[in-house]
Amino acid sequence: MVVNVVINGYGTIGKRIADAILKQNDMKLIGVAKTKPDYSAIIAYRNGLYIYTLRDNIDKFEAAGISVAGTIEDMLDAADLVIDATPKGVGAKYKSLYESKSKKAIFQGGEKGDLVEVSFNALCNYDKALGKKYIRVVSCNTTALCRVIWALKKNFGIKKVRATIIRRGADPHEIKRGPIEALVPNPVKLPSHHGPDVKTVISDIDIVTTAIIAPTSRMHMHVFNAELEKNVTVDDVIDAFEEAPRIILLSETNGFNSTAAFIEWSRDMGRKRYDIYEVPIFKESITIVNGNEIWLMYGVHQEAIVVPENIDAIRAMFELETDGFKSIKKTDNSLRILKRWPE
Ligand SMILES: NC(=O)c1ccc[n+]([C@@H]2O[C@H](COP(=O)([O-])OP(=O)(O)OC[C@H]3O[C@@H](n4cnc5c(N)ncnc54)[C@H](OP(=O)(O)O)[C@@H]3O)[C@@H](O)[C@H]2O)c1
Repeated sequence: MVVNVVINGYGTIGKRIADAILKQNDMKLIGVAKTKPDYSAIIAYRNGLYIYTLRDNIDKFEAAGISVAGTIEDMLDAADLVIDATPKGVGAKYKSLYESKSKKAIFQGGEKGDLVEVSFNALCNYDKALGKKYIRVVSCNTTALCRVIWALKKNFGIKKVRATIIRRGADPHEIKRGPIEALVPNPVKLPSHHGPDVKTVISDIDIVTTAIIAPTSRMHMHVFNAELEKNVTVDDVIDAFEEAPRIILLSETNGFNSTAAFIEWSRDMGRKRYDIYEVPIFKESITIVNGNEIWLMYGVHQEAIVVPENIDAIRAMFELETDGFKSIKKTDNSLRILKRWPE
Protein backbone atom coordinates (compact mmCIF):
# COMPACT_ATOMS: atom_id res chain seq x y z
CA MET A 1 0.00 0.00 0.00
CA VAL A 2 1.11 3.58 -0.68
CA VAL A 3 -0.38 6.18 1.69
CA ASN A 4 -1.49 9.47 0.14
CA VAL A 5 -0.30 12.23 2.46
CA VAL A 6 -1.11 15.95 2.47
CA ILE A 7 0.48 18.60 4.66
CA ASN A 8 -1.59 21.41 6.11
CA GLY A 9 0.93 24.11 7.13
CA TYR A 10 4.08 24.36 5.04
CA GLY A 11 6.40 26.16 7.48
CA THR A 12 9.47 25.16 9.47
CA ILE A 13 8.20 21.66 10.23
CA GLY A 14 5.84 21.10 7.29
CA LYS A 15 8.40 21.76 4.54
CA ARG A 16 10.87 19.33 6.12
CA ILE A 17 8.26 16.58 6.48
CA ALA A 18 7.28 17.17 2.83
CA ASP A 19 10.89 16.59 1.73
CA ALA A 20 11.12 13.46 3.89
CA ILE A 21 7.90 11.99 2.43
CA LEU A 22 9.31 12.44 -1.08
CA LYS A 23 12.11 10.06 -0.04
CA GLN A 24 9.78 7.18 1.02
CA ASN A 25 8.51 4.41 -1.27
CA ASP A 26 5.43 3.59 0.84
CA MET A 27 3.92 7.08 0.96
CA LYS A 28 3.15 9.76 -1.61
CA LEU A 29 2.98 13.54 -1.16
CA ILE A 30 -0.25 14.78 -2.76
CA GLY A 31 0.08 18.46 -1.86
CA VAL A 32 0.75 21.12 0.74
CA ALA A 33 -1.31 24.02 2.09
CA LYS A 34 -0.39 27.57 3.07
CA THR A 35 -2.37 30.73 3.60
CA LYS A 36 0.18 33.22 2.16
CA PRO A 37 1.76 33.13 -1.32
CA ASP A 38 5.21 34.04 0.01
CA TYR A 39 8.68 32.95 -1.17
CA SER A 40 8.30 29.49 0.41
CA ALA A 41 5.07 28.89 -1.49
CA ILE A 42 6.60 30.11 -4.75
CA ILE A 43 9.67 27.86 -4.37
CA ALA A 44 7.52 24.85 -3.46
CA TYR A 45 5.35 25.50 -6.53
CA ARG A 46 8.38 25.89 -8.80
CA ASN A 47 9.71 22.60 -7.38
CA GLY A 48 6.57 20.89 -8.61
CA LEU A 49 4.51 20.56 -5.42
CA TYR A 50 0.74 20.94 -5.64
CA ILE A 51 -0.26 23.98 -3.59
CA TYR A 52 -3.61 24.36 -1.83
CA THR A 53 -5.01 27.26 0.20
CA LEU A 54 -8.11 28.75 1.78
CA ARG A 55 -10.87 29.52 -0.74
CA ASP A 56 -10.66 33.27 -0.01
CA ASN A 57 -6.91 33.37 -0.71
CA ILE A 58 -6.84 31.66 -4.11
CA ASP A 59 -6.75 34.99 -6.00
CA LYS A 60 -3.68 36.14 -4.05
CA PHE A 61 -1.84 32.94 -4.96
CA GLU A 62 -2.80 33.27 -8.62
CA ALA A 63 -1.60 36.92 -8.57
CA ALA A 64 1.76 35.68 -7.22
CA GLY A 65 2.07 33.28 -10.15
CA ILE A 66 1.01 30.17 -8.25
CA SER A 67 -1.63 28.12 -9.99
CA VAL A 68 -3.46 26.63 -7.01
CA ALA A 69 -4.53 22.98 -7.12
CA GLY A 70 -7.59 23.66 -4.97
CA THR A 71 -8.86 24.49 -1.51
CA ILE A 72 -7.71 22.83 1.71
CA GLU A 73 -10.97 20.84 1.62
CA ASP A 74 -10.11 19.61 -1.92
CA MET A 75 -6.66 18.63 -0.67
CA LEU A 76 -8.14 16.58 2.16
CA ASP A 77 -10.49 14.81 -0.26
CA ALA A 78 -7.44 13.50 -2.14
CA ALA A 79 -5.68 12.24 1.01
CA ASP A 80 -5.55 9.19 3.23
CA LEU A 81 -3.84 11.19 5.97
CA VAL A 82 -3.13 14.82 6.79
CA ILE A 83 -0.03 16.02 8.58
CA ASP A 84 -1.08 19.12 10.45
CA ALA A 85 1.93 21.42 10.80
CA THR A 86 0.01 24.66 11.28
CA PRO A 87 1.07 27.01 14.11
CA LYS A 88 0.51 26.00 17.74
CA GLY A 89 -3.21 25.82 18.56
CA VAL A 90 -4.40 26.11 14.93
CA GLY A 91 -4.30 22.32 14.48
CA ALA A 92 -6.92 21.86 17.20
CA LYS A 93 -9.28 24.12 15.22
CA TYR A 94 -8.82 21.97 12.11
CA LYS A 95 -9.54 18.66 13.83
CA SER A 96 -13.30 18.77 13.25
CA LEU A 97 -12.70 19.28 9.48
CA TYR A 98 -10.38 16.25 9.40
CA GLU A 99 -13.00 14.25 11.32
CA SER A 100 -15.80 15.34 9.00
CA LYS A 101 -13.77 14.07 6.03
CA SER A 102 -12.85 10.82 7.90
CA LYS A 103 -9.14 11.46 7.45
CA LYS A 104 -6.43 10.28 9.79
CA ALA A 105 -4.33 13.14 11.16
CA ILE A 106 -0.93 13.68 12.73
CA PHE A 107 -0.62 16.82 14.85
CA GLN A 108 2.58 18.44 16.12
CA GLY A 109 3.93 19.25 19.56
CA GLY A 110 2.27 22.67 19.78
CA GLU A 111 -1.10 20.93 20.22
CA LYS A 112 -2.30 19.54 23.53
CA GLY A 113 -2.03 15.83 24.34
CA ASP A 114 -5.76 15.42 24.91
CA LEU A 115 -6.48 16.28 21.24
CA VAL A 116 -5.30 12.81 20.15
CA GLU A 117 -5.34 9.12 20.98
CA VAL A 118 -1.55 8.80 21.33
CA SER A 119 1.35 11.19 21.96
CA PHE A 120 4.06 9.58 19.88
CA ASN A 121 7.77 8.86 19.94
CA ALA A 122 8.94 6.08 17.63
CA LEU A 123 11.42 4.49 20.06
CA CYS A 124 9.11 4.64 23.08
CA ASN A 125 5.62 3.74 21.89
CA TYR A 126 5.43 2.85 18.17
CA ASP A 127 3.14 -0.10 19.03
CA LYS A 128 0.54 2.17 20.63
CA ALA A 129 0.14 4.10 17.36
CA LEU A 130 -0.69 1.02 15.26
CA GLY A 131 -3.95 1.61 13.39
CA LYS A 132 -4.77 4.84 15.25
CA LYS A 133 -6.59 7.82 13.66
CA TYR A 134 -5.22 10.80 15.61
CA ILE A 135 -1.65 11.11 16.81
CA ARG A 136 0.52 13.92 18.11
CA VAL A 137 4.26 13.82 17.45
CA VAL A 138 5.59 15.42 20.63
CA SER A 139 7.69 18.61 20.53
CA CYS A 140 11.37 18.85 19.65
CA ASN A 141 12.49 19.04 23.29
CA THR A 142 10.20 16.21 24.38
CA THR A 143 11.38 14.07 21.46
CA ALA A 144 15.03 14.47 22.51
CA LEU A 145 14.23 13.75 26.16
CA CYS A 146 12.24 10.64 25.16
CA ARG A 147 15.11 9.24 23.04
CA VAL A 148 17.73 9.75 25.76
CA ILE A 149 15.44 8.38 28.47
CA TRP A 150 14.54 5.38 26.29
CA ALA A 151 18.21 4.42 25.83
CA LEU A 152 19.07 4.76 29.53
CA LYS A 153 15.86 3.14 30.83
CA LYS A 154 16.19 0.14 28.55
CA ASN A 155 19.79 -0.56 29.58
CA PHE A 156 20.00 0.51 33.22
CA GLY A 157 16.55 1.45 34.56
CA ILE A 158 15.84 5.00 35.73
CA LYS A 159 14.79 6.18 39.21
CA LYS A 160 14.37 9.83 38.27
CA VAL A 161 15.25 12.45 35.65
CA ARG A 162 16.04 16.12 36.29
CA ALA A 163 16.79 18.20 33.20
CA THR A 164 17.32 21.85 32.29
CA ILE A 165 16.37 22.98 28.80
CA ILE A 166 18.08 25.99 27.26
CA ARG A 167 15.63 26.93 24.52
CA ARG A 168 16.33 28.84 21.35
CA GLY A 169 14.56 32.19 21.33
CA ALA A 170 13.30 31.91 17.74
CA ASP A 171 13.71 29.82 14.60
CA PRO A 172 16.23 31.34 12.15
CA HIS A 173 13.57 32.78 9.83
CA GLU A 174 11.55 34.42 12.60
CA ILE A 175 11.85 38.15 13.39
CA LYS A 176 9.14 38.69 16.00
CA ARG A 177 10.47 36.57 18.86
CA GLY A 178 13.36 36.91 21.27
CA PRO A 179 15.03 37.69 23.65
CA ILE A 180 17.90 39.57 22.02
CA GLU A 181 19.75 40.32 25.26
CA ALA A 182 18.45 38.30 28.22
CA LEU A 183 18.04 34.81 29.62
CA VAL A 184 14.38 34.23 30.36
CA PRO A 185 13.14 31.64 32.87
CA ASN A 186 10.43 29.67 31.05
CA PRO A 187 8.46 29.91 33.28
CA VAL A 188 9.77 31.65 36.43
CA LYS A 189 7.63 29.35 38.58
CA LEU A 190 9.16 25.90 38.27
CA PRO A 191 8.88 23.32 36.80
CA SER A 192 8.56 23.70 33.01
CA HIS A 193 5.91 21.91 30.93
CA HIS A 194 8.42 19.54 29.34
CA GLY A 195 8.41 16.97 32.18
CA PRO A 196 4.61 16.47 32.03
CA ASP A 197 4.87 16.33 28.24
CA VAL A 198 7.40 13.47 28.45
CA LYS A 199 4.90 11.67 30.70
CA THR A 200 2.32 11.71 27.88
CA VAL A 201 4.70 9.24 26.17
CA ILE A 202 6.48 7.52 29.11
CA SER A 203 3.82 7.59 31.81
CA ASP A 204 5.83 5.89 34.57
CA ILE A 205 8.85 8.22 34.56
CA ASP A 206 9.72 10.48 37.52
CA ILE A 207 10.83 13.64 35.72
CA VAL A 208 11.15 17.33 36.61
CA THR A 209 12.36 19.91 34.08
CA THR A 210 13.24 23.59 34.07
CA ALA A 211 13.73 25.81 31.02
CA ILE A 212 15.48 29.04 30.08
CA ILE A 213 15.00 30.87 26.77
CA ALA A 214 18.30 32.13 25.32
CA PRO A 215 19.23 34.55 22.51
CA THR A 216 20.09 31.90 19.94
CA SER A 217 18.11 30.57 16.98
CA ARG A 218 19.80 27.44 15.75
CA MET A 219 19.48 24.81 18.48
CA HIS A 220 18.28 24.04 21.97
CA MET A 221 20.62 22.46 24.52
CA HIS A 222 19.74 20.18 27.45
CA VAL A 223 21.65 19.63 30.69
CA PHE A 224 20.39 16.17 31.60
CA ASN A 225 20.71 14.43 34.96
CA ALA A 226 19.28 11.05 35.96
CA GLU A 227 19.55 8.61 38.82
CA LEU A 228 19.84 5.12 37.36
CA GLU A 229 18.74 1.87 38.95
CA LYS A 230 22.23 0.39 38.73
CA ASN A 231 25.81 1.54 38.94
CA VAL A 232 27.38 2.20 35.53
CA THR A 233 30.62 3.37 33.98
CA VAL A 234 30.98 6.05 31.34
CA ASP A 235 31.84 3.29 28.85
CA ASP A 236 28.58 1.44 29.66
CA VAL A 237 26.64 4.60 28.87
CA ILE A 238 28.60 5.24 25.67
CA ASP A 239 27.80 1.68 24.54
CA ALA A 240 24.10 2.22 25.27
CA PHE A 241 23.97 5.46 23.28
CA GLU A 242 25.99 3.97 20.41
CA GLU A 243 23.35 1.24 20.06
CA ALA A 244 20.36 3.58 20.24
CA PRO A 245 18.91 4.86 16.95
CA ARG A 246 18.77 8.63 16.35
CA ILE A 247 21.39 9.46 18.99
CA ILE A 248 24.96 10.30 18.00
CA LEU A 249 28.02 10.91 20.15
CA LEU A 250 30.24 13.71 18.89
CA SER A 251 33.66 14.28 20.43
CA GLU A 252 35.41 17.44 21.55
CA THR A 253 38.58 16.03 19.98
CA ASN A 254 36.88 16.52 16.59
CA GLY A 255 35.93 20.11 17.49
CA PHE A 256 32.42 19.51 18.81
CA ASN A 257 32.41 22.05 21.64
CA SER A 258 29.23 24.09 21.00
CA THR A 259 25.91 24.02 19.18
CA ALA A 260 27.59 26.22 16.55
CA ALA A 261 29.95 23.32 15.81
CA PHE A 262 27.01 20.92 15.37
CA ILE A 263 25.42 23.26 12.85
CA GLU A 264 28.64 23.88 10.94
CA TRP A 265 29.26 20.09 10.82
CA SER A 266 25.83 19.58 9.26
CA ARG A 267 26.46 22.41 6.77
CA ASP A 268 29.85 20.95 5.85
CA MET A 269 28.20 17.57 5.25
CA GLY A 270 25.87 19.28 2.79
CA ARG A 271 22.67 18.43 4.59
CA LYS A 272 19.69 20.32 3.20
CA ARG A 273 18.82 23.26 5.49
CA TYR A 274 21.62 21.90 7.80
CA ASP A 275 19.07 19.56 9.35
CA ILE A 276 20.19 17.43 12.30
CA TYR A 277 17.70 14.62 12.88
CA GLU A 278 19.87 12.93 15.51
CA VAL A 279 20.33 13.96 19.15
CA PRO A 280 24.00 15.06 19.10
CA ILE A 281 25.51 14.35 22.53
CA PHE A 282 28.70 16.08 23.67
CA LYS A 283 30.55 12.78 24.24
CA GLU A 284 32.94 14.08 26.89
CA SER A 285 30.06 15.60 28.90
CA ILE A 286 28.93 12.14 30.00
CA THR A 287 29.81 11.98 33.69
CA ILE A 288 28.96 9.46 36.39
CA VAL A 289 28.69 10.57 40.03
CA ASN A 290 28.26 8.22 43.01
CA GLY A 291 28.06 5.16 40.74
CA ASN A 292 24.52 5.61 39.44
CA GLU A 293 24.00 9.31 38.79
CA ILE A 294 24.51 10.42 35.20
CA TRP A 295 25.04 13.90 33.78
CA LEU A 296 25.32 14.84 30.13
CA MET A 297 24.68 17.65 27.63
CA TYR A 298 23.32 17.52 24.11
CA GLY A 299 21.90 19.73 21.37
CA VAL A 300 18.42 19.57 19.82
CA HIS A 301 17.88 20.86 16.29
CA GLN A 302 14.34 22.02 16.80
CA GLU A 303 13.57 22.39 13.09
CA ALA A 304 14.44 18.80 12.15
CA ILE A 305 14.36 16.33 15.06
CA VAL A 306 10.63 15.55 14.76
CA VAL A 307 10.77 14.82 11.01
CA PRO A 308 11.68 11.09 11.21
CA GLU A 309 9.09 10.63 13.97
CA ASN A 310 6.35 11.91 11.63
CA ILE A 311 7.38 9.39 8.97
CA ASP A 312 7.25 6.52 11.47
CA ALA A 313 3.89 7.73 12.78
CA ILE A 314 2.42 7.46 9.26
CA ARG A 315 3.74 3.89 8.94
CA ALA A 316 2.30 2.92 12.32
CA MET A 317 -1.14 4.46 11.68
CA PHE A 318 -1.54 2.50 8.42
CA GLU A 319 0.30 -0.58 9.78
CA LEU A 320 2.64 -0.39 6.78
CA GLU A 321 5.18 -1.80 9.22
CA THR A 322 4.14 -3.36 12.53
CA ASP A 323 7.69 -3.60 13.90
CA GLY A 324 8.73 -0.13 15.04
CA PHE A 325 12.43 -0.85 14.70
CA LYS A 326 11.99 -1.87 11.06
CA SER A 327 10.20 1.41 10.37
CA ILE A 328 12.91 3.38 12.20
CA LYS A 329 15.59 1.65 10.12
CA LYS A 330 13.75 2.36 6.86
CA THR A 331 13.23 6.01 7.76
CA ASP A 332 16.80 6.44 8.97
CA ASN A 333 18.24 4.93 5.79
CA SER A 334 16.09 7.19 3.63
CA LEU A 335 17.15 10.33 5.54
CA ARG A 336 20.77 9.15 5.94
CA ILE A 337 20.56 9.44 9.70
CA LEU A 338 23.96 8.66 11.19
CA LYS A 339 24.90 6.37 14.05
CA ARG A 340 28.61 7.15 14.19
CA TRP A 341 30.82 9.94 12.97
CA PRO A 342 33.18 9.79 11.19
CA GLU A 343 31.89 6.59 9.60
N1 LIG B 1 9.66 25.23 14.91
C1 LIG B 1 9.94 24.40 15.87
O1 LIG B 1 10.97 24.53 16.54
C2 LIG B 1 9.05 23.25 16.17
C3 LIG B 1 9.63 22.07 16.64
C4 LIG B 1 8.81 20.97 16.89
C5 LIG B 1 7.43 21.09 16.77
N2 LIG B 1 6.91 22.29 16.36
C6 LIG B 1 5.44 22.37 16.21
O2 LIG B 1 5.11 22.22 14.84
C7 LIG B 1 3.93 22.98 14.53
C8 LIG B 1 4.26 23.92 13.40
O3 LIG B 1 5.29 24.80 13.83
P1 LIG B 1 6.24 25.55 12.81
O4 LIG B 1 7.37 26.05 13.63
O5 LIG B 1 6.49 24.71 11.63
O6 LIG B 1 5.31 26.77 12.41
P2 LIG B 1 5.54 27.80 11.21
O7 LIG B 1 6.95 27.80 10.76
O8 LIG B 1 4.91 29.07 11.64
O9 LIG B 1 4.68 27.15 10.03
C9 LIG B 1 3.29 27.09 10.09
C10 LIG B 1 2.73 26.95 8.70
O10 LIG B 1 1.32 26.89 8.77
C11 LIG B 1 0.75 27.77 7.77
N3 LIG B 1 -0.54 28.23 8.30
C12 LIG B 1 -0.79 29.21 9.21
N4 LIG B 1 -2.09 29.28 9.47
C13 LIG B 1 -2.69 28.34 8.68
C14 LIG B 1 -4.03 27.94 8.47
N5 LIG B 1 -5.04 28.50 9.14
N6 LIG B 1 -4.27 26.94 7.57
C15 LIG B 1 -3.26 26.36 6.89
N7 LIG B 1 -1.98 26.70 7.06
C16 LIG B 1 -1.69 27.67 7.94
C17 LIG B 1 1.80 28.85 7.61
O11 LIG B 1 1.80 29.37 6.30
P3 LIG B 1 1.21 30.78 5.99
O12 LIG B 1 2.00 31.77 6.78
O13 LIG B 1 1.33 30.92 4.52
O14 LIG B 1 -0.19 30.69 6.45
C18 LIG B 1 3.08 28.07 7.75
O15 LIG B 1 3.40 27.48 6.51
C19 LIG B 1 3.52 23.65 15.86
O16 LIG B 1 2.62 22.80 16.52
C20 LIG B 1 4.83 23.70 16.63
O17 LIG B 1 4.64 23.79 18.02
C21 LIG B 1 7.68 23.35 16.01
